[in-house]
Amino acid sequence: MCGIVGYVGDKQASKIIIEGLKRLEYRGYDSAGIAVINGQLSIKKGKGKVASLEKMIGSGEKGSIGIGHTRWATHGEPNDINSHPHTIESGKLAIVHNGIIENYNTLKKKLSEQGYTFYSQTDTEVVAKLIESFLEKDASSLKKAVQLALHQVHGTYGIAVLHSDFPNQIVVARKGSPLLLGVGDGEMLIASDASAVAAYTDKVVYLDDGEIAVITKDNYTVESADHIELSKEVHELTLSLEEIEKGGYDHFMLKEIFEQPKAISDCLRGRIDPDKGTVTLGGIDSIMDKLVNANRIIIAACGTSWHSGLVGEYLFEYLAKVPVEVEYASEFRYKEQLIGEGDVMIVISQSGETADTLAALRAAKERGALVIGVVNVVGSTIARETDAGVYIHAGPEIGVASTKAFTAQVTVLTMMAIKLGLSKNAITIKEAKKLISELAKIPQKIEEILQNTSEIERISNLFSYAPNFLYLGRSYSFPVALEGALKLKEISYIHAEGYPAAEMKHGPIALIDEMMPVVVIAATHHTNDKMISNIEEVRARKGRIIAITTPKNDEVGDLAEFSSIIPETMDVFSPLLSVIPLQLLSYYIAVNRGCNVDQPRNLAKSVTVE
Ligand code: F6R
Repeated sequence: MCGIVGYVGDKQASKIIIEGLKRLEYRGYDSAGIAVINGQLSIKKGKGKVASLEKMIGSGEKGSIGIGHTRWATHGEPNDINSHPHTIESGKLAIVHNGIIENYNTLKKKLSEQGYTFYSQTDTEVVAKLIESFLEKDASSLKKAVQLALHQVHGTYGIAVLHSDFPNQIVVARKGSPLLLGVGDGEMLIASDASAVAAYTDKVVYLDDGEIAVITKDNYTVESADHIELSKEVHELTLSLEEIEKGGYDHFMLKEIFEQPKAISDCLRGRIDPDKGTVTLGGIDSIMDKLVNANRIIIAACGTSWHSGLVGEYLFEYLAKVPVEVEYASEFRYKEQLIGEGDVMIVISQSGETADTLAALRAAKERGALVIGVVNVVGSTIARETDAGVYIHAGPEIGVASTKAFTAQVTVLTMMAIKLGLSKNAITIKEAKKLISELAKIPQKIEEILQNTSEIERISNLFSYAPNFLYLGRSYSFPVALEGALKLKEISYIHAEGYPAAEMKHGPIALIDEMMPVVVIAATHHTNDKMISNIEEVRARKGRIIAITTPKNDEVGDLAEFSSIIPETMDVFSPLLSVIPLQLLSYYIAVNRGCNVDQPRNLAKSVTVE
């Protein structure tokens, strides 16, 4: 969601903050703003991207302490007034906020009765005035005023507060929205995401919920919710700058699509041994017994991660013979949670910060289930709160549309399913050797798809202006159909639906005519005959068939109007290959339509509000 950056040191704060905001812009991009202290506090903000803010500032903003924000609107439309930072009547305080203050209306009413005036529609301005109200009673400590204000607040926040009467410090606090401190030499940074500080330091301190910190140029202190000073672990960042730059590609999404062979190799590295037929996943070794004895596995996730969870369901059930349920985390958290000891929950999250997934994790833990994380961002909240976990090691994913995280998540779930299958004697060593040898070839097979994108580009050019798309798949290809449709919707704004191919007859078939492109994922051999019947049904209604298929499925190729041929693999691994042309299809269509691929409208990379 929104991005927060702050700096205190000897350098020009505005430059560092703008640089950081650009790196965080993928988190939210409807408006941006900055506050710096140079004698007085000065705020510049407005609707639009960080680039507009940068123009507004020019080389003007002096001062070596400041905070900045890039916004994804929750309360109040994106406009200049609702942009952060928010301030108070005297102009002495600035606050940036990520999250949602649920009781802001009640607080606003109380403060209005006390004479405070509100100019924006945001919940954040309420916190600014609330802090001011405490400073009016006791102006000795900004931290104390922030603490008292936060006691009255219900909801989630990551906040940073600057005040010109306390010109050498930034006060930050977290509950439910990520925040970290970047520890430099004679300078300190704060950010909602490590990519904003990686250019300046590789030492970070992650704040936990309820904590409040005060940073100055040479020091930081962190206190728990009950006012106990904490000594926090300093983590080393392993992010390199190349990983968070476009590196010659037009868009991060394209770069990330092409990074998939490397992402999957990194994910597999040191974890599989094709000769021995073994899988080593250090992060779940200690809980393998519980996993082996689990009654069932519940997978909870959102969006693309939920789709990889659906692939996981097929994998665990087939390879480890364990029943699996896949839940939208947002639904799981508010339903009757029939989960307890003996159950295992796997939460999947690229960012490791998705609010609903985090809530599902906490609910499952509370009820005694063991929770395993499949996460990309190292040190993220979900990674830290799970009982055990396996990082996907896909590297930073910056394009809002998830691509390499999906394939790396599926890779991890595949390894987990093989490992569990072996432990439960659901598969033999001989079968595991065969599976693992094929899994090791997947990066090279993805590379082959990426080396020849001309046909998928041609198809994209032909269908760029279609108003609707239907995606069909069976078995392992069904979640891929959902994922293909999601990718197209989110970056090209074309309406698309994914369906299990046979479900088409129960409704969606009514949509098919000569105007309807139907993407058929026919990459799973054991369902091929059935897919062919579904293709015939689409053909009979003159639908335009685009098939994703393999050389052996030549009948599909003959029946389809267009096909993208992917290399042969075992059915269990087919999602790792069949999703690639679908990612490319949505990318090329979005580019043809002039859409902002990396920052599609209304979306944010990391959804830290529910
Ligand atoms: C789609 C996409 C989203 C995310 C979802 C979950 O391309 O990126 O649907 O998959 O918001 O995010 P994470 O995986 O960070 O929990």
